[in-house]
Amino acid sequence: MSSFRFDLLVLLVFSMHFAPALSDLVISKLDRRIDLTSQIVRVTLTFKVENTGTDPVSEVSLTFPEHQANNLALLAAVSTEGKGKTRGAATNLPIKIKQPDDSPPSLIWYAASLPKELGKGESLNIDVLAVFTHVLRPFPEKITQAESQLFLFQDSAHFTSPYNVKVQSLTVKLPSESVESYTKLENTKFSGSEIKYGPYEKLAAFSYSPVIVHFPSNKPFVVAKELVREIEISHWGNVQVTEHYNIIHGGARSTGEFSRLDFQARPHVRGASAVRNLIAMLPPRAHSIYYRDAIGNISTSNIYADSSKTLVELEPRYPMFGGWKTCFTIGYGLPLQDYLFQLGGTRFLNITFGSPMNDVLVENLTLKVVLPEGSRDISVSVPFPVKQSQETTFSHLDIAGRPTVVVEKVNVVPEHNQYFQVHYKFSNLSLLTEPLMLICGFFSLFVACIIYMHADFTISKSSASYIAKLQWDEVQGTIQQLQDIINRCLLIHDKLEASLRELSRTGDVQASKAVRKSADALLKDFSKESKPLLAILQSSPQAAHILPKSWL
Ligand SMILES: *[C@@H]1O[C@H](CO)[C@@H](O)[C@H](O)[C@H]1NC(C)=O
Ligand SMILES: *[C@@H]1O[C@H](CO)[C@@H](O)[C@H](O)[C@H]1NC(C)=O
Ligand SMILES: *[C@@H]1O[C@H](CO)[C@@H](O)[C@H](O)[C@H]1NC(C)=O
Repeated sequence: MSSFRFDLLVLLVFSMHFAPALSDLVISKLDRRIDLTSQIVRVTLTFKVENTGTDPVSEVSLTFPEHQANNLALLAAVSTEGKGKTRGAATNLPIKIKQPDDSPPSLIWYAASLPKELGKGESLNIDVLAVFTHVLRPFPEKITQAESQLFLFQDSAHFTSPYNVKVQSLTVKLPSESVESYTKLENTKFSGSEIKYGPYEKLAAFSYSPVIVHFPSNKPFVVAKELVREIEISHWGNVQVTEHYNIIHGGARSTGEFSRLDFQARPHVRGASAVRNLIAMLPPRAHSIYYRDAIGNISTSNIYADSSKTLVELEPRYPMFGGWKTCFTIGYGLPLQDYLFQLGGTRFLNITFGSPMNDVLVENLTLKVVLPEGSRDISVSVPFPVKQSQETTFSHLDIAGRPTVVVEKVNVVPEHNQYFQVHYKFSNLSLLTEPLMLICGFFSLFVACIIYMHADFTISKSSASYIAKLQWDEVQGTIQQLQDIINRCLLIHDKLEASLRELSRTGDVQASKAVRKSADALLKDFSKESKPLLAILQSSPQAAHILPKSWL
């Protein structure tokens, strides 16, 4: 408490000494509404600005105390001309930070550029939406299972405008009709669940009147410390979304022991501040929805689908109390034709940016869009500032990898759930790469199968190897026969030698001649016998490598 009270003091002191330089503009009527019904605080401002000076004005400044500006997740302004039924169409005003040198400390300035200069005496209606996170402080900071959460909110009953304001009022909307305490000023009224301050008339620039509201709220304070959303495009008809959440209950921290029994017996009393479920609002025609954590699939989820949306109620494994954490992943497929469009030679993805969960604050969002392999000339257009980079993702069958756009943003609120686009060029030929690879793969597989079927592992009678084997058997048989003949020749030679030795000993020429004659006859027979065998060898291709060259 002490730290922000100090802020207020500093602001008050300095604002009194500050002479506004922008006094030509005057705000004639200002209505401010602060919505405290969820952890995300939304402030809407409606005012009419008038140029009372002589020089035309092209910018309107908005100022916020530093402690609020640090937690500003979104600031948007639109202008409308005319009033009531004659109000024209709203024009978005670009806004940028523009800090003057002589600003009082702890004030942050934003300049909204007008669609056209505001001349002398002219006026314009402006609507502003400012969304803040982390501006509700649990007080007490720690509670038990059975206690309700109480929060403190502090602001000024007067809008810290750099211009004089003729008349203004403030409405603070609470989550319920009960309030612990609130600052009572003149013209303060509490009715229903709203506290009204004002109207206050003729307030000088930078007037400040602190108010503090202390109120109960058991709305879910679900904070995603980190969310990684992956959107993968497949030109074969699907957009696959996978979201990894790292969630904490960001309300008052839970102390004391948790009794599941108490909780189950009376969940709304003994666990008023617990988060029991989360609602994800997925696009219509979302399919193949799953919800899992580190342990596995969580089956406690219900799906209600109609033509405009798909509601998924996710129930974590345990109720979450202040400070408790959980991690989980949800995934779903979307029909490609709802999100991918063609414009001339480029394609573009048009899909929402943020988390589909109701009232979840995402502290760090990383969004990855995985494009098909072969995409080029990639550009991203997001309607608010983000950090961008590119990387490459690999999955099955990828050669060069898939170009991946990475977008990072801190402090993402449901208002950021706007459409963004990723443009890229893609040749339809690239689309064929993977199927061609598959076809080639299958083709090689078939060829391999065919070769395998024809290979001679089982001997088929018409196959070349079977014939070769027969031929080789024949060659071997022939050689065997030749060897027999040669052996018999050698025997005859032995006999002839023996007869010659007999002849030299006995001198019996007749006997020797007879032996010689029969040997000659036998050798002639052998030669006759071997001729067809040699012919077989010469004609057989299998014998080619064993025959002397001169034989062929
Ligand atoms: C989880 O559910 C999905 C879809 O119902 C299923 O494909 C997957 O196999 C499941 N995983 C486990 C770990 O049970
Ligand atoms: C993206 O889609 C939304 C919703 O269908 C549509 O309103 C918006 O005009 C689209 N944006 C572009 C650039 O096509
Ligand atoms: C979120 O981003 C901020 C700033 O980039 C960084 O300091 C912080 O560590 C991040 N938190 C997580 C949980 O990644």
